[in-house]
Amino acid sequence: MPSPSPTAPNTAAAELIVALRLATAATHQAVELLPGMVRLTGPDPSPADYRRYLRLMARVYGTLEPSLYAALSAPGAPGTGAAGQPPSARAADRVAALGLRPKFPALCADLAVHGLAPPAVVPDLLSPPDLNTALGGLYVLEGSTLGGRVVARHLRKHLGDPLPGATFLDFHGGQAAAHWKRLGLALDGLAADGLIDPDCVITGACAVFQEVYTMLATLDEDPPAP
Ligand code: HEM
Repeated sequence: MPSPSPTAPNTAAAELIVALRLATAATHQAVELLPGMVRLTGPDPSPADYRRYLRLMARVYGTLEPSLYAALSAPGAPGTGAAGQPPSARAADRVAALGLRPKFPALCADLAVHGLAPPAVVPDLLSPPDLNTALGGLYVLEGSTLGGRVVARHLRKHLGDPLPGATFLDFHGGQAAAHWKRLGLALDGLAADGLIDPDCVITGACAVFQEVYTMLATLDEDPPAP
């Protein structure tokens, strides 16, 4: 399977997205090279490989999404904008207008299609992120939808079409590119208006991607799911 090009932007305007992609490229590649991911994207993926992937991703999203989304809906949350001002309700409104939705419910629905219960997750609520970190984290979790489309195509080729339980992989359907473009433009707009600090968004994305990697690497060592 092709790896994402570290240099090809999805939109000409989304400068922060390009910086985020470059900053997180090594971690993304490390994720792609984890054994479970290699099996999934290799020449002979099995239904069990797909079920295992769904369980792993459900653990990741179930752990990370609650605090990231909580930070987005809390305009008074701690953090600093580019000019040192606190993140404003204006920034929170603009993020809310993007209509981002948690993907954990989709993963639970996909697991249910395979007769599997949702994982027991402990939401990562101990250190609520600020708006910059939350946006960096959402870049990571939203961006995986782009890779998801590639993974879905691969699995349909090898496991058959329709692919049972694929609402997570197909999350935005035919609108994935449009969603991504909107997110990129919104991030650039927030940065241009001094409502977020691009460096802090990038630092947040790197931290969250690293957390995703660590969780996947640790969970991947568990015995394979039935
Ligand atoms: C089997 C594992 C994975 C594969 C094969 C994969 C593959 C890809 C591919 C091909 C793209 C580019 C898609 C496009 O530009 O249309 C992409 C983008 C992306 N993926 Fe993955 N991915 C995997 C796992 C993940 C995971 C687990 C995450 C994080 C939770 C993730 C986060 C991202 C992000 C943030 C982008 C957007 C990069 C950008 O354009 O800025 N990926 N992935």
